[in-house]
Amino acid sequence: MQIFAKDVTQKEAHLLLDSIVCPRPIFFVSTVNKDGVINLAPFSMSTIASTKPPMVCFSAALRANGKEKDTVVNIRETKEFVVNMVTEEILDNVLRAAADYAPGISELPYTGLNTLASLKVVPPRVSESPVHMECRLRQILELGLHQLIIGEVLVFHLDNDVYSGHDVDSSRLKIVGRMRGSSFVRTGDVFSNEELWRLGEEEEKV
Ligand SMILES: Cc1cc2nc3c(=O)[nH]c(=O)nc-3n(C[C@H](O)[C@H](O)[C@H](O)COP(=O)(O)O)c2cc1C
Repeated sequence: MQIFAKDVTQKEAHLLLDSIVCPRPIFFVSTVNKDGVINLAPFSMSTIASTKPPMVCFSAALRANGKEKDTVVNIRETKEFVVNMVTEEILDNVLRAAADYAPGISELPYTGLNTLASLKVVPPRVSESPVHMECRLRQILELGLHQLIIGEVLVFHLDNDVYSGHDVDSSRLKIVGRMRGSSFVRTGDVFSNEELWRLGEEEEKV
């Protein structure tokens, strides 16, 4: 079966990509608007953009009326955001933040989650998440109906229970993976193959 991209609608392309490129981590993004109101929203079109400097990125779709999501409006205005990683424990709370609240209405009270002050940026962190990344906006790429937000990580906050001294024990993190639509996967079933992995290990310029 081959499908030429020029023959599919945006909805069909979305269904294909959503079901092919998975599991994906969920970035629960905190921002503030110009009046200081906290906004929280989950984004699963999300990944690493660079390791030096450390950068992460996520893709926000334009709304049906062509307008930007509140997260993007806030990041454009303040140039700052925090990525809170989503675990099994907080998935339900996070999903409550995805409803379409009016601009200026904070999702925070609807999630049942709490916040902690950040060190370098104004948007707060979500206390119940074990990993937070404070980010400064690097670039917004306009990509058709999506906007790719690239942020430089200024501070990594790592719960002591998951930090090993040099990296994070991802099996203990219990990160949730987004599958297609409303499906998710648990990431506790970790396996490794050190010997073969070394064959493909690249020498990276740092
Ligand atoms: C698990 C999950 C993942 C999501 N991932 C994305 C995404 O990658 N891009 C996107 O534009 N919307 C995504 N959404 C929808 C946004 O979270 C939703 O539109 C939200 O209301 C945007 O909030 P805002 O207007 O406050 O920024 C996702 C929703 C859920 C529940």
